[in-house]
Amino acid sequence: MTALREVGILGTGSYAPERVLSNHDLEKLVDTNDEWIVSRTGMRERRLVSEGQATSDLACESAKRAMEDAGVGAGDIDLVILATVTPDHLVPSTACILQARLGLVNASAFDINVACSGFVTGMNVAKSLIAAGAYNRVLVIGAETMSSILNYKDRGSCILFGDASGAAVLGPYAGQGKILDMHTGADGTGGMSMVVPAGGSRKPCTPEVVAADEHKLVMKGNEVYKFAVAKFKDLVVEQLARTGYKPSDIDLVIPHQVNLRIIESALSRLDIDPARIYINLDRYGNTSAGSVPLALDEARRAGRFQSGSLVSLVAFGAGLTWASSLIRW
Ligand SMILES: CC(C)(COP(=O)(O)OP(=O)(O)OC[C@H]1O[C@@H](n2cnc3c(N)ncnc32)[C@H](O)[C@@H]1OP(=O)(O)O)[C@@H](O)C(=O)NCCC(=O)NCCS
Repeated sequence: MTALREVGILGTGSYAPERVLSNHDLEKLVDTNDEWIVSRTGMRERRLVSEGQATSDLACESAKRAMEDAGVGAGDIDLVILATVTPDHLVPSTACILQARLGLVNASAFDINVACSGFVTGMNVAKSLIAAGAYNRVLVIGAETMSSILNYKDRGSCILFGDASGAAVLGPYAGQGKILDMHTGADGTGGMSMVVPAGGSRKPCTPEVVAADEHKLVMKGNEVYKFAVAKFKDLVVEQLARTGYKPSDIDLVIPHQVNLRIIESALSRLDIDPARIYINLDRYGNTSAGSVPLALDEARRAGRFQSGSLVSLVAFGAGLTWASSLIRW
C-alpha cells in the first residue's frame, strides 16, 4: 500500500459583501435594541449581499483570492468542494457554477450541506482525498447568503447571521499549514433545532408556504446554545487528547463565530487564554460556512499566527454537525 501524503494549506482568501447591517438598522426591522444584541451575542454589525448578489458571487471572490495566495492557476485545481446551506439554486450545485465561472476545466465539483461545520468538514474531506493521492489541488470554499433564508420578522434568529465567504487551496504539504489532526461528526436526532421547513421535497414552496414564511430559518435558540457550548469544549478536549498537545501549546483557536457568550462559556471550561481566541463576530455576525474560513484568512493576514504556530479550527452547526482541525502553520 502506498504511504499517505502529508497535506497542507497552500493559500487562503475571503470576501464579505460591502453592505453593512448594524444593530441600529435591525431596530428598525424588529423589536430589538443594540444593548440587547451586544450583551447576548457580542455582535454589532453584519454584512449583507446587495440586490442580485448570490452565494456563488461571494464564493468567486474568496476563491480567486485563495488561488492567487496559493500561486495556482485555473488549470491546476482538480476538485472544488463548496460548503453552503444557501446555494444559488437547488440544482445545479453552486460548486459547478463556480467551476464554470473560474474556468476550472480540470476540476470535479460538488457542494456539501453541513451548515456552520461546512468549511472545516470540506477541508477534512479534501485532506483525506489528497493524502490518498486521489487529487492534488483542492479548492475548499465556505460561502453563505444567510440573508436569503432569514426571517426578518423573527428577532430571535435574524439578528445573529450575516453573509460572507472564505476559501483555501489544499495540496500536498509544501512547508506551510500542515494539517495534523481532523475530526467530523453528526447527530441527526437534533436536526429539527435549526430547520428551513419548506422549499425541499418534504414541503415544496407554494404561495401559502411563502405567506407563512416556512421557507425561512426556524431555530430553537436555547437548544442550540447548550449544544454549541458543550460541543465546542468537547472538540478542543478531544483534539488535544488525540494529538498529545496541552491547551497552552495552542497559539490560536479559530472557532465558528457563533456568539461571544457561547465562546466565552466554552472557554471557561477550557484552560485556554482568551487572548488566544480569534473573534470577528462583532463585525460579521455568524456567517455559517463562511465563518471559519473568513476568520482564518483575516487572522492570518493580520499576523495573528505565523509559520510554526499551532492553530485549532473548531466548528459546529445545524444537522447537528461538528468538525475540527489542528494545523501546524
Ligand atoms: C438566540 C439567543 C441569542 C437568545 O438569547 P437568550 O439569552 O437565550 O434569550 P431567550 O431566547 O431566553 O429570550 C430572552 C428574552 O429575550 C427576548 N428576545 C429574543 N430575541 C431578542 C432580540 N433580538 N431583542 C430583544 N429581545 C429578544 C425573548 O423574546 C425573551 O423575552 P421574554 O423573556 O419576554 O420571553 C441564544 O439563545 C443563542 O445565541 N442561541 C444559539 C443560536 C445560534 O447561535 N444558532 C446558530 C448555531 S450555528
